Amino acid sequence: MKLLVTGMAGFIGHAVAKRLAGQGHDLVGIDNLNDYYDVALKHARLSDLIKCDDVRFIELDLADSEGMSALFAAEQFDRVIHLAAQAGVRYSLDNPHAYAESNLVGHLNVLEGCRRHSIEHLVYASSSSVYGMNEKVPFATHDAVDHPISLYAATKKANELMAHTYSHLYELPTTGLRFFTVYGPWGRPDMAPFKFTQALLEGKPIQVNNHGDMQRDFTYIDDIVEGVVRILDVIPASGNSTSAPDTSTAPYALYNIGNGSPVALMDFIRAIERATGCDAKCDFRGMQPGDVPRTWADTEALFDATGYRPQVGIEEGVARFVEWYRNFYQI
Ligand SMILES: NC(=O)c1ccc[n+]([C@@H]2O[C@H](COP(=O)([O-])OP(=O)(O)OC[C@H]3O[C@@H](n4cnc5c(N)ncnc54)[C@H](O)[C@@H]3O)[C@@H](O)[C@H]2O)c1
Repeated sequence: MKLLVTGMAGFIGHAVAKRLAGQGHDLVGIDNLNDYYDVALKHARLSDLIKCDDVRFIELDLADSEGMSALFAAEQFDRVIHLAAQAGVRYSLDNPHAYAESNLVGHLNVLEGCRRHSIEHLVYASSSSVYGMNEKVPFATHDAVDHPISLYAATKKANELMAHTYSHLYELPTTGLRFFTVYGPWGRPDMAPFKFTQALLEGKPIQVNNHGDMQRDFTYIDDIVEGVVRILDVIPASGNSTSAPDTSTAPYALYNIGNGSPVALMDFIRAIERATGCDAKCDFRGMQPGDVPRTWADTEALFDATGYRPQVGIEEGVARFVEWYRNFYQI
C-alpha cells in the first residue's frame, strides 16, 4: 500500500513509520519540524527512519492548503495515518492559535485530501483529553464528552466531529483513536515521563501536580503502535445505528487506545526512581489549569476490533525508556 504518515518526525509518527517500514509499503511522511520542543530530537527520529529504503520524508505544514492538495494529487495514497498536531495541554493556554492552525485548518486539509482522492481509510489521532471533566470511569467512547477543559481538547473533539461529517457526506471511512498518555523510547520532552527522568538523572527537583494525587493510564509506545497498525486494516462500514456517540450510519469509528489500568503518579515516579537508581526531589504543587486528575481507558472496543490488548506494564516500560534515554543522551 501507499501510505501517508503525518507527523512522522514526532514521537508516535516515528514509531508507527518504523514499524511499517520494510513491510512492502511505500511510505511517505510529512512534518513541519516546528520548535515546540527540541528540533534535534525530531531530526534524530528522521535520521533513524531515513535508513529505511521505503520511507520518504517531505517537510510540509498541514496548514498549507495548496501544498497539502498538491501532495495528495501527486502521491495518490491508499490510506492515511494522521498523527501531526499541535500537542500539549499547557501550551494551549498561551498559544491558542497554534492549535487552530495545525489541529483545525490542518485536519481540514487532511480530510479534503482524503475526500478528493478516495482514500480507503483515514486513521487519525484524537486524545483522552476530550473526556475533560468526565467523572465516570473507565472512560468509554460512548460517554458524552461535551465539557473539554483546554483548547487542545476542544480541537481534538472538533477533529472527531469534522471526521464524522466527511464520513457522512463523502463516504470517507475514518477512525479516530483517543490516545492515553503515551511514553517510551524517543518520547516527548514536554511530557512528565521524559521530564521526570531527565530531572532525576540531573539531580534536579520535579514538579508534581495536584500534590501527587493524580492517576494516568500510561500506555507504552509499542502497544500504541500495535493498535494503530491493526486498526488500519479495520475499515469502518456504513450502516450502524446513531444511538450512541461512538456509532454512526456513516463509515466512522472511534476507539480509546490506552493501557486500561490507571497508575498513581507517585507509583510512576517510584518506577523511574528504581530504573534510574536516583531519588526524586518532589516539588509538590496544586492542580494546573487544563489538567485532569485521572484518566482511565475502557479498551474493550479496541480489543473486540483488533484482538489486541496492551502487553507492557509500567515497570518494564519505564525501564526500557530510561535505558533509551541513557543511550541517546550518553548519560
Ligand atoms: N503522546 C501522547 O501521549 C498523546 C496523547 C494524546 C493524543 N496524542 C496525539 O497523538 C498525535 C501524535 O502525538 P505525539 O506524541 O507523537 O506528538 P509530537 O509532537 O511528538 O508529534 C507531532 C508531530 O507533528 C508535527 N506537526 C505539528 N504541527 C504540524 C503542522 N502544522 N504541519 C506538519 N507537522 C506538524 C510536529 O512537528 C511533530 O513532529 C498528536 O495528534 C497528539 O495530539 C498524543
